[in-house]
Amino acid sequence: MPCGTQTNIAMHRRKLIKNATIVNENRTFVGAVLIDNDRIEEIIEGVEAVPSIPADIVVDASGCFLLPGVIDEHVHFRDPGLTHKADMYTESRAALAGGVTTVLDMPNTVPQTTSAETLNEKMETAARKCCVNYGFFIGATADNVPLLRTLNPRKVAGVKLFMGSSTGNMLVDKEEALREIFSTVRMPIMTHCEDTDIINENMARLTAELGTEPGICCHARIRSEEACYNSTALAVNLATEYGARLHVAHVSTARELELFSADADARITAEACVPHLLYTDADYARLGARIKCNPAIKTAADREALRAALTDGRISAIGTDHAPHLLREKQGGAAKAVSGMPMVQFSLPAMLGLVDEGVLGLTDVVRLMCHHPARIFGIENRGYLREGYKADIVLVRRQSWKLTPNRIESRCGWSPLEGHTFRWAVEKTYCNGCLAYSEGHITDSDFRGQAVSFCH
Ligand code: DOR
Ligand code: ZN
Repeated sequence: MPCGTQTNIAMHRRKLIKNATIVNENRTFVGAVLIDNDRIEEIIEGVEAVPSIPADIVVDASGCFLLPGVIDEHVHFRDPGLTHKADMYTESRAALAGGVTTVLDMPNTVPQTTSAETLNEKMETAARKCCVNYGFFIGATADNVPLLRTLNPRKVAGVKLFMGSSTGNMLVDKEEALREIFSTVRMPIMTHCEDTDIINENMARLTAELGTEPGICCHARIRSEEACYNSTALAVNLATEYGARLHVAHVSTARELELFSADADARITAEACVPHLLYTDADYARLGARIKCNPAIKTAADREALRAALTDGRISAIGTDHAPHLLREKQGGAAKAVSGMPMVQFSLPAMLGLVDEGVLGLTDVVRLMCHHPARIFGIENRGYLREGYKADIVLVRRQSWKLTPNRIESRCGWSPLEGHTFRWAVEKTYCNGCLAYSEGHITDSDFRGQAVSFCH
């Protein structure tokens, strides 16, 4: 039952989802969740248990796993300025279809989100267009540090710092500017770490050797392990020196993992992104520029190390780096083809696939995709199934289905996972207590998410 409007919310205040296998806070148990309006009112263990308060709607979730809605801490929804690729409406629909109920969006839009005005504009656009809950990063530049100090931290996810160049020209790599940022910013700093000088040298050398633009298969040799390691080590050193709260985005090599501890309360943490957990450089031959992203997808040994770090604590969270581009923008080789791929709609089924492969457990998926993004960025009242928290909930089921283009909600209309057979399907997504997605359909095109609040 759609509930985008007040009338519907009033009509169906209480929903009971029962007989589900609930996965939450390191436990898995059969039980029920009672939703009152937009909040979780009660979590009940067992099949027999009946809540004290009657419900207006009862959903029998037998055979489903019930998880907190996924918080994707790393998306590029392209709005404003790049809406030929994607916009907040199309991509947030993709999020809902993927069981994602909150997104944190990156600042490399046009204009870049590097001022209070551009941040406010994004908030306004999201209120109109975003079908899931949202928060935004402010981009660091060499000269907006005074602004970073004055922003209301409750309204900003963190500061995104491109210590390596990527889509959008937001590079900050001069030591003086970096020192100013790390010594000043108290919100989480999320870095893109790749050393641009090393990348440029590699590109020039390979181009000279080959006498032409290197192909996609060279991408990982250009955006190399050394480029990643040096930049990540610099970020970790600066954060350590100044006591900053650092979250390194999309770690892509085994070697970088040496720089992170397994301490869940560490002030320096690492994110792995879905593409680096799914693919290796062997996949370039099959998928070409579709899986070209920055940092590059590296070797099988790197992927195995990243996968192992999901359960040993060195990786604290999984994001998607959902970065849609049109396929026609992906023409050319390692220099010309744009970097990034859509992923937000399929990250949860893909990571549940890794559960079947024995890479991690269901409770690990929930920790890495729901709990920890909330914890790292201090997102209030979300990310966990807890009484009084917002009712952001996803139901998933073991079910085989093949990804065909007609299922893709993202505006770009393609996925590197086309043709893949998933073993898990998202059945229902509840966002703020509303059933916003159900069995292949967005239930109400008018439903909108809320701005989340941060307590850093
Ligand atoms: O591959 C990438 N694409 N890496 C980034 O850092 C940016 C992203 C994009 O916005 O296209
Ligand atoms: Zn990104």
